Amino acid sequence: MHLAQNSLFISVARILWAFDILPALGADGKPIIPDPWNFTDGFNSKPVSFRCRIKARSASVEERIESEWRGALVITSELLDDITHPVRNTHTKTDSEFRVSRAGELLAPDSSEAQAYSSES
Ligand SMILES: *[C@@H]1O[C@H](CO)[C@@H](O)[C@H](O)[C@H]1NC(C)=O
Repeated sequence: MHLAQNSLFISVARILWAFDILPALGADGKPIIPDPWNFTDGFNSKPVSFRCRIKARSASVEERIESEWRGALVITSELLDDITHPVRNTHTKTDSEFRVSRAGELLAPDSSEAQAYSSES
C-alpha cells in the first residue's frame, strides 16, 4: 500500500514537474473543457476519456526529458545486451567504476568505502 502510494506520488509529481496538461483545441481553435462530472455508467464507474494536450513546461525541461530518455535507452540496451550475451559481457571491475555499497548507496570510485569494498572482493 505505501509502495503503491509513494510510486503514484512520484509519478504524478514528475508529470506535473515536466508537463503542462491543457484542454484540447476544437476546430475553431477554442479549448474544449471536459465535463468533470461525466462518468461511465455501472458499478465500476470512472471518468470518461477526454482529449487534452500535453506539452513540456519549458525548453530546458524538454531538453532534460530528451537527455534522460537517451540515457534510459543506453542503460536499457546495455541491460538487454547483458541478458542476451551473459558470458561475453563478464568483465573485470576496475577501480574507476562506481560501486554500490551494502546499504544500496552509489559510491564514487575514489570513496574510502568503495576502496574497502573493492579490497574485500
Ligand atoms: C460524456 O462523455 C461521452 C463519451 O465521451 C460524450 O459522448 C458526451 O458528450 C459527454 N457528455 C458531456 C456532457 O460532456
